[in-house]
Amino acid sequence: MKALFEPESIAVVGASNDERKIGHIVFNNLIQSKFSGELYPINPKAGEILGYKAYPSLTAVPGRVEQVVVCVPSTLVPSVMEEAGIKGVEAVIVITAGFKELGKEGAKLERQVGDIAKKYGMRVLGPNCMGIMNTHHKMNGTFTNIHPMSGSIAMASQSGAVCSSMLDWSTKSRVGFSKFISVGNKVDVDEADLLAYLKDDPDTNVIGMYLEGANRGRELMKEAFRTTQVKPIIVLKSGRTSSGSKAASSHTGALSGSDKVYDAAFQQSNVIRVNTIDELFDLLQVFANMPMPKGDGLAIVTNAGGHGVMAADACSDYGLKLASFEKSTIEKLKGYLPEAANVYNPVDVLGDATAARYDFAIKTVMEDPNVSCVAVLLAPLDTVDIKAVAEHLATFGGKVSMPVVGAFVGGTKTNKGIELLHEANVPCYDSPDKAIRALGAMVRYKKMKDASTDTTPVVINGDKDRVKEIIEAVRRTGRTSMSESEGKEILRAYGVSVPVEITAKTPEEAAQAAVKIGLPVVMKIDSPDIAHKSDVGGVMVGVSSEEAVRHGFELIMSRVRSRVPGAALNGVTICQMVKGKEVLMGMTRDEQFGPVITFGLGGVFVEIMKDVAQRIAPLTKHDVDTMVRSIRSYPILTGARGGKAADIESLKDTIFKLAQIALDFPEISELEVNPVMVGDEGKGTYAVDALVVLRREN
Ligand code: COA
Repeated sequence: MKALFEPESIAVVGASNDERKIGHIVFNNLIQSKFSGELYPINPKAGEILGYKAYPSLTAVPGRVEQVVVCVPSTLVPSVMEEAGIKGVEAVIVITAGFKELGKEGAKLERQVGDIAKKYGMRVLGPNCMGIMNTHHKMNGTFTNIHPMSGSIAMASQSGAVCSSMLDWSTKSRVGFSKFISVGNKVDVDEADLLAYLKDDPDTNVIGMYLEGANRGRELMKEAFRTTQVKPIIVLKSGRTSSGSKAASSHTGALSGSDKVYDAAFQQSNVIRVNTIDELFDLLQVFANMPMPKGDGLAIVTNAGGHGVMAADACSDYGLKLASFEKSTIEKLKGYLPEAANVYNPVDVLGDATAARYDFAIKTVMEDPNVSCVAVLLAPLDTVDIKAVAEHLATFGGKVSMPVVGAFVGGTKTNKGIELLHEANVPCYDSPDKAIRALGAMVRYKKMKDASTDTTPVVINGDKDRVKEIIEAVRRTGRTSMSESEGKEILRAYGVSVPVEITAKTPEEAAQAAVKIGLPVVMKIDSPDIAHKSDVGGVMVGVSSEEAVRHGFELIMSRVRSRVPGAALNGVTICQMVKGKEVLMGMTRDEQFGPVITFGLGGVFVEIMKDVAQRIAPLTKHDVDTMVRSIRSYPILTGARGGKAADIESLKDTIFKLAQIALDFPEISELEVNPVMVGDEGKGTYAVDALVVLRREN
């Protein structure tokens, strides 16, 4: 990776004297950026390019070549790679397009490039990329005509278009980059590799990323987690993984779309995900320029009540608290500000506020122990000297003890103030919401990082042999879908509690079973062909007499026979009726990330409510804790409105068991337990239903 970011010699294959050609632009950019190492233009026809002696091939270069930038048409790339390998090149950047993005033939060519790189032990960035910049190494090996300032943001993008937008934004916002990487098709180097390098890069304080999809999901998570222990990562993720649109036969499958998997992956690795390019810009700006807050208390200083109220409203949306000032802070503010000023948070320094009044208020609230960050709001009232306030705020650039951001809300008048602040590296936005969102992201990152000290996954020892037997038996019948009883047997083998149940083949057997188990009972159709029993009239709950059980048997069998003709019916299962709060648990397998565990509010409205959370196994206690707490209906479990608290510990324990089954048996492609009944505290958790689907063989 060092050869990619800090080479001492670079050869540009396809460098040209034709100013319109990419090979010319790349070579010229390297010269313009004042690259201090050796530069070699490679072109079989030219004698000299931009004052440098040209060589007909890489092997003709007399000295060592550490890095090669390839700018020749795609069909020539494999031969250039071979030559680079023979020359002992360490890193190759393939700018050329026309590979897997074009289909089968392109993909074949790309594989060839990857294979040659492997053969010679070279790292490859691209193909189909814009190149790489390292401003601290005076290296711009891209074909953009924008030379960004040097700074502390490393940006990696899977899209060339996003690269150019980011670079253009950086000149307007006066934001500097440490590294700028266009990753392209990722035949070799991907985001996980980049994070492993950037984590230890002393010139990088924050990493931004535009991601369409990961090649190695688990590696990305691992490197992201390690990196976020040291510096923040902000990701704008779009697009979908190839597994995303796969038809899934369980609710869990439908609920855990591929994009949700990324949410889980980012959450578990403390990565901040943003949804728009604006948000990416806004967050990078604050992370790059301001120190981390120590807590979540926000002070607002404003010259307009309305903006103050909007900022205060935004606090709860972005996880900030409006700080309560100490008495001494209030007294100090009272002593200086006019009588009409509001000295409580948000501090209103009034419409005629001078820069000195802002200054006093900001410095005073920063001394308050309950304040960890400050938002300075300004409305362009005729009475305010925007330039003077901006000049004053600009003095906070690079030397504050806590994050201070501006929100100058307006247009023509306020823009000049915003520009002035950007020049001084003080983030300033055009709305209170954006300012609070940026500060909120800092607080969120800090909280996530501080809370994720627990990195050891929970391991459960289940009866693997028993599960193997069940899987083999199901395979022998040619099925991939298990019956409910087979599914429950698997759960039992891992210590998951399931209600007592007996399968009856006749109404009389059903009545006897109900008496044995104890009335009332639940009756369910037993069929390997039916995934959602209640949808086809295959479930009766609270059946409380022998007669009702006999009748129920007939009813269920006839309903299912008419609604699902041809389904194999083993009979009706009579189950112990367990009480509790209904939740759902499940597992789907993602191609990139592995087992994705879903937890949420259960019941028949699950797909409408979509109150679920996902995590990727293996799971730590912290993962499961945050997953369970994150659903909207969590207060129902803790005993909202005088209700009893549910047995949350046994619920979590069941999640770990499910995750372990998924980890131990990759041949299980989907698993759903819906409903799971969580009893009152100390009463345990029961898997009332089980749906297990095996991966198709070959
Ligand atoms: N070694 C070195 N130079 C060679 C060569 C070789 N084996 N074979 C040809 N060249 C020279 C050419 O003679 C030419 O130089 P010249 O101008 O002096 O004649 C130069 O290399 C470039 O080759 P050319 O055939 O003119 O290609 P091009 O410049 O028109 O296009 C690419 C090459 C790589 C730019 C083009 O194929 C491409 O992929 N463009 C898209 C790039 C892109 O969008 N990437 C993704 C961004 S996100």
